[in-house]
Amino acid sequence: MGPSAYRTAGLVEVLAELGHEVTDLGNVTLPHTEAKTHPNSAVHHLPEIAGWTEVLTDVAYRQSADGMPIFLGGDHALSAGTVAGVARRAAEQSRPLFVLWLDAHTDFHTLETTDSGNLHGVPMAYLTGRPGFADYFPPNAHPVDPANVCMIGIRSVDPAERAALADSPITVVDMRSIDEHGIAAPLRQFIERVEAANGLLHVSLDVDFLEPDIAPAVGTTVPGGATFREAHLVMEMLHDSGLVSSLDLVELNPFLDVRGRTARLMVDLTASLMGRRVLDRPTRSY
Ligand code: ARG
Ligand code: MN
Ligand code: MN
Ligand code: MN
Repeated sequence: MGPSAYRTAGLVEVLAELGHEVTDLGNVTLPHTEAKTHPNSAVHHLPEIAGWTEVLTDVAYRQSADGMPIFLGGDHALSAGTVAGVARRAAEQSRPLFVLWLDAHTDFHTLETTDSGNLHGVPMAYLTGRPGFADYFPPNAHPVDPANVCMIGIRSVDPAERAALADSPITVVDMRSIDEHGIAAPLRQFIERVEAANGLLHVSLDVDFLEPDIAPAVGTTVPGGATFREAHLVMEMLHDSGLVSSLDLVELNPFLDVRGRTARLMVDLTASLMGRRVLDRPTRSY
């Protein structure tokens, strides 16, 4: 029901008001999937997630030909497909793909290490080419270079993810770091790297990046998230960079929402990313 909630919250209208030409391509459907099980018996919905990954890879590849696709979830398993699709596009253009992962979680489990078995916890491992996906997920033809991944907002990491991240070049900006240095400094650094490399930039926004007080409609709330102002600042800086080429809005659960409040916040954040600003002139940089 996530995509419907974004539509009800006026996503299309808000973007159109900002002067964008918007096409709602409707919902993607999942064709028949083959039954599949994994030795890790916790893993569930494996055939469905593998099927969605295949379908969404194709959709994301096609829709990144021109314009900026915005993918409405659905949970974060969606990004296994959307990022794989834009990675194929980037490879075709001989440009590196960078991924900004705005999340409380790193979603860096493999199929072997996940305890919950929730496959929203694995997309970053699949995308960066960690082992064990080959027999279960579609082949990952264009793995994302982990050195080109920046995760911001992190505050819940399982032991196996923690161990894997210790040896990974992924940039992880946890809440402690944000408290100490602010959110703008690490984001600016990452944006500068994307710019210097002439990269494509995919942004994956998990609702639980946000402080649950302002964004309660998600199944995996973790206290101490990004504030309203931090989140808008991230989006405004991304807009000013002019680099964002695709976006995921994931993990919204409208059944947990309070009169569409979280959906509206996500739409407003998208508006900031797409050019809504306080004044009709560039914000002064100091
Ligand atoms: N690490 C936990 C798990 O694997 C939580 C993952 C939460 N991810 C998300 N996209 N909400 O179950
Ligand atoms: Mn989920
Ligand atoms: Mn996530
Ligand atoms: Mn999360």
